Amino acid sequence: MVAAGTFTRLDPVNWPGCFLARSDATDVARVEDRTFICSLSKDAAGPTNNWVEPFEMRRKLKGLFAGCMRGRTMYVLPFSMGAVGSPLSQIGVELTDSPYVVVNMRIMARIGLPVFREIDRAQKRVVPCVHSVGRPLADGERDVAWPCNPEKYIVHFPETREIWSFGSGYGGNALLGKKCFALRIASAMARDEGWMAEHMLILGVENPEGEKTYVAAAFPSACGKTNFAMMIPPRPFADKGWKVWTVGDDIAWLRPDDKGRLRAINPEAGFFGVAPGTSQKTNPNAMAALSRNTIFTNVALTPDGGVWWEGMTKTPPSECLDWRGQRWTPELAAASGAKAAHPNARFTAPAVQCPTIDPAFNDPEGVPISAIVFGGRRATTLPLVFQAFNWSAGVYVGATMGSETTAAAAGATGAVRRDPMAMLPFCGYHMGDYFRHWISMQRSLSETPRIFHVNWFRKDANGAFLWPGFGENMRVLKWIVERARGRASGRETPLGWMPRMQDLDWTGLAFDEEDFEALMAVDRKAWRRELMEHEELFLDLRAHLPKELLFERELLICRL
Ligand code: OXD
Ligand code: MN
Repeated sequence: MVAAGTFTRLDPVNWPGCFLARSDATDVARVEDRTFICSLSKDAAGPTNNWVEPFEMRRKLKGLFAGCMRGRTMYVLPFSMGAVGSPLSQIGVELTDSPYVVVNMRIMARIGLPVFREIDRAQKRVVPCVHSVGRPLADGERDVAWPCNPEKYIVHFPETREIWSFGSGYGGNALLGKKCFALRIASAMARDEGWMAEHMLILGVENPEGEKTYVAAAFPSACGKTNFAMMIPPRPFADKGWKVWTVGDDIAWLRPDDKGRLRAINPEAGFFGVAPGTSQKTNPNAMAALSRNTIFTNVALTPDGGVWWEGMTKTPPSECLDWRGQRWTPELAAASGAKAAHPNARFTAPAVQCPTIDPAFNDPEGVPISAIVFGGRRATTLPLVFQAFNWSAGVYVGATMGSETTAAAAGATGAVRRDPMAMLPFCGYHMGDYFRHWISMQRSLSETPRIFHVNWFRKDANGAFLWPGFGENMRVLKWIVERARGRASGRETPLGWMPRMQDLDWTGLAFDEEDFEALMAVDRKAWRRELMEHEELFLDLRAHLPKELLFERELLICRL
């Protein structure tokens, strides 16, 4: 890949085992408008998914895939999502003509011979995944560094559990174990089999007594899941013995065990994280994880063979090559606004290199989940934290989640869109049926996890963030785990239970009481608007919406 120009080897002393890839400038993010759920009926896919009649789509794919790998090597890549042999794991085989996909999948999933052996041993169904960059080579034609096709199709057949991806080499479109399998196809499997495939990080909070509480949290793409999953508690907490352990940063598969406790695995083996904004200050654990054996995509290359991205250091390098390979300096950037790294530049790093990786990371049984946290990027309306009154109220909170759009998907950024459970681009079937599945999960649980909502991104009237975020989120997380164990107090509000100022641990942080009030305020006028937006989502989903959510909405209106 180095010889082909796809990879640049980074400095082997400072960045051992690390490589940089620059994508085609048009192939930098997931393409949601080119992503299809081709279930037998349109109604099964629901109004939030693009649907094409499966027979028609198969005919289209047959045309696209005929001869599409000509002149390239086709790799046969068996992979396990979850530890090989775990009862919670699933197996796929990806055929791909992209070596970039192979080396990324080698980090993101368990691959190779042990998986072939598991296919022979186990009774599990194998999910077939076919991927092509869609750029055949004529005899003697010179390849480009990042082959792709302007025409892109990311196609899922949920009933037959198949994935067909054409035209893109970008992670979320091409590493088919991740979004395509572990979320879209797995969500359909999970509905049929009584488990859950969620866009969630998993972390463990260890208190000074050594007691561990596991939390799963769903935030939309590029809203800080990786930072939260790898959080370092502030000094006074760390000194007392509080510790956060990382199980996963993006996807959780959750299943009730034989005692009715919800247990979760991270089906992935690596982190495919957003680079910009990641630094020693914001996420030292991610910086350690990506310091070796890592693939960087669309970051900047420094003259000494290192990498850089916006937010990595306070002072930018005096010059570098930007993500397109062009000369970049802070002066040129000041004039043009050009970024050195693409806003959706990524690192692909092995999970085991994270210093806080949880000892149970490979545990085939998964970890017990005590709390589920939803969250979005919201400048107004949503308070710092609240706890839903019960499971169905919590499902309502997740179902009506909204967030400002980010660079993780192609399109405009900054507009609030409803992103139920952060699954809008990832649910492989009708969103109303998905809510129904969430509601019904309660019946197979002896103990339901407590459900919370957080918003780290609320702003004051001048547009400044009210909450410092990052490590300080530990104060909120401590309240969450204590609440989940029935040990922390709060006050009842129309939204749910909220901490009063005295209910949070402020050791080592002087925080203004007025700012706290502003962070926690429930503005009834803003909530009126918010409820109208909930209604709009519900109108779209109406025929499939579980009754519980309509009742929850009525209750919320009454309380407000
Ligand atoms: C991701 C995403 O890459 O959500 O995790 O887009
Ligand atoms: Mn994600």
